[in-house]
Amino acid sequence: MFKRKCLIQSAAALPPQEEIFFQMRKIVKQYQLGDEAVTVLRDVDLTIQEGEYLSVLGPSGSGKSTLMNIIGCLDLPTSGEYILHGNIVGELDEKELSRIRSREVGFIFQNSQLLKRMDAMKNVELPLIYAGVRPKERARRAEEMLVKVGLQDRLHHQPNQLSGGQQQRVAIARALVTNPSLLLADEPTGALDQTTGRQIMELFHELNEDGNTIIMITHDVNIARNARRVVNIIDGVLTEAEGEVTFA
Ligand SMILES: Nc1ncnc2c1ncn2[C@@H]1O[C@H](COP(=O)(O)OP(=O)(O)OP(=O)(O)O)[C@@H](O)[C@H]1O
Ligand SMILES: [Mg+2]
Repeated sequence: MFKRKCLIQSAAALPPQEEIFFQMRKIVKQYQLGDEAVTVLRDVDLTIQEGEYLSVLGPSGSGKSTLMNIIGCLDLPTSGEYILHGNIVGELDEKELSRIRSREVGFIFQNSQLLKRMDAMKNVELPLIYAGVRPKERARRAEEMLVKVGLQDRLHHQPNQLSGGQQQRVAIARALVTNPSLLLADEPTGALDQTTGRQIMELFHELNEDGNTIIMITHDVNIARNARRVVNIIDGVLTEAEGEVTFA
């Protein structure tokens, strides 16, 4: 009895084990085209701390979307190790992968991909329906997010009654509503004019100040510069950008 108590006490005295937030090690992605294996990601190493704002900058065809799909657990690497929020992604089954996709990652795409027949509120509520949240709570959280992105006056507008920038804000609110550990954006300003794009970048900055971790994927050096940290990807090779960010 006494011995057991001692054990419990000594365990309690140990510091809690640090959970790895985001770590990729030697990620390789190959596609099989007939007899030929095409390598698209080559030994990608990437570690991100919670609360970081990172952009992945690279030209067309460099592997950005392929990397995003792996980060968002939409696809698995051919080899290498990926840990997201303490989960070793390669060891998860389909059910756990789907839980990670819907709970841990908020996706934002170039085209907002909203449902046309639903108003802003219903579009933002959608991930909460999948998560089994009750209607009243869903509405409360959806409204809170739409207010956060500055759309308090557009709650019941359908996508075709909103500007491109407003549609993208709805998509951002939808990505945020499940309180994901990671916001993952693929060319989030790609379909917007410069001024609207700048406003979306201001919103990303605010979201990061509020503690959200953001990974933004872009081919545009001026967009990439908005992030606090930039990595370059060229022909599937990822390197840390140093000093002034330029398009290598
Ligand atoms: N399913 C696939 N099968 C074979 N090759 C693929 C597949 N998907 C992507 N690729 C190849 O992988 C490379 C990287 O594609 P990816 O879509 O990741 O590029 P990207 O950097 O996102 O480009 P963009 O800026 O044009 O969106 C390309 O050469 C592409 O042809
Ligand atoms: Mg792409």
